[in-house]
Amino acid sequence: MASTINKAVFPVAGLGTRTLPATKVLAKEMLPLVDRPIIQHAVEEALSAGIRELIFVTAKNKQIIRDHFQADPKLERELARRGKQELLELVQNILPRDAVCHYVIQRRPLGLGHAVLCARSKVGSEPFAVILPDDLVCHPDTTCLQQLMALYQDRNASVVAVENVAREQVSRYGIVETAQAPDGALKMKSVVEKPSPDAAPSTLAVVGRYIFTPAIMPLLKTTRRGAGNEIQLTDAIAALLGQEDVYLCEFQGRRYDCGSILGYMQANVDYALRHETIGAEFRSYITNLLK
Ligand code: G1P
Repeated sequence: MASTINKAVFPVAGLGTRTLPATKVLAKEMLPLVDRPIIQHAVEEALSAGIRELIFVTAKNKQIIRDHFQADPKLERELARRGKQELLELVQNILPRDAVCHYVIQRRPLGLGHAVLCARSKVGSEPFAVILPDDLVCHPDTTCLQQLMALYQDRNASVVAVENVAREQVSRYGIVETAQAPDGALKMKSVVEKPSPDAAPSTLAVVGRYIFTPAIMPLLKTTRRGAGNEIQLTDAIAALLGQEDVYLCEFQGRRYDCGSILGYMQANVDYALRHETIGAEFRSYITNLLK
């Protein structure tokens, strides 16, 4: 039986160059999606999959992420004094009481593979999830990570989320070549980071949700710099294929690239339309606006 996944790694040390100047001072993961920062959406997705240990691989100047998930006694006292019970509960319940956060600093921007490797002492020798908060996946009832988790439980193997993209966009992603398991399940045959459109083995792109068996960490340790002169997670996955099966999860739901301004705005509109309190009013506003 597959062991339970209790840990998620959030690589959040990136500079956010695609959203400058908004992210000159503010960490890109702290940009709000309607009523909470992007990183909180990512954390809620991990929590929804039963994960309680959250490992943030962050940069020195990104203390703000830690601040967001830490208790703020001064704010709490003030809300209590003003009788704002609902708001008090809101800030107290950003994380459930049994959730634990770890922060690891990635000192040099050596790439996604290096970021995940930075988390190794916190991950230990357990299977774990990786969530890239820039990739936001919206699904009304089953989160992307829950979908990966179901496949992981079923196969007891690493699982990577994939989605079809336009051929002219393949050079932005890890692109996979697929194989079929005897029962028809989709497996990874090979993977290449950011290929040119004519060299890409398919148009099936890796999206930022992964579940890994412990075998990935030793492979990351020996992974050399690859595309963009960075240590690529994709290259370690390619090495993992030499040892184990890796399954592909063609998840249900809509993905937004919140690391780009257009994707970020699209995600905001989608979330606002679905939002419990402002949804209906926002919908009629947008409808009128477009008339
Ligand atoms: C990273 C991964 C890439 C993956 C992508 C998903 O790239 O290296 O394989 O397809 O995330 O968003 P990045 O967006 O960091 O360039």
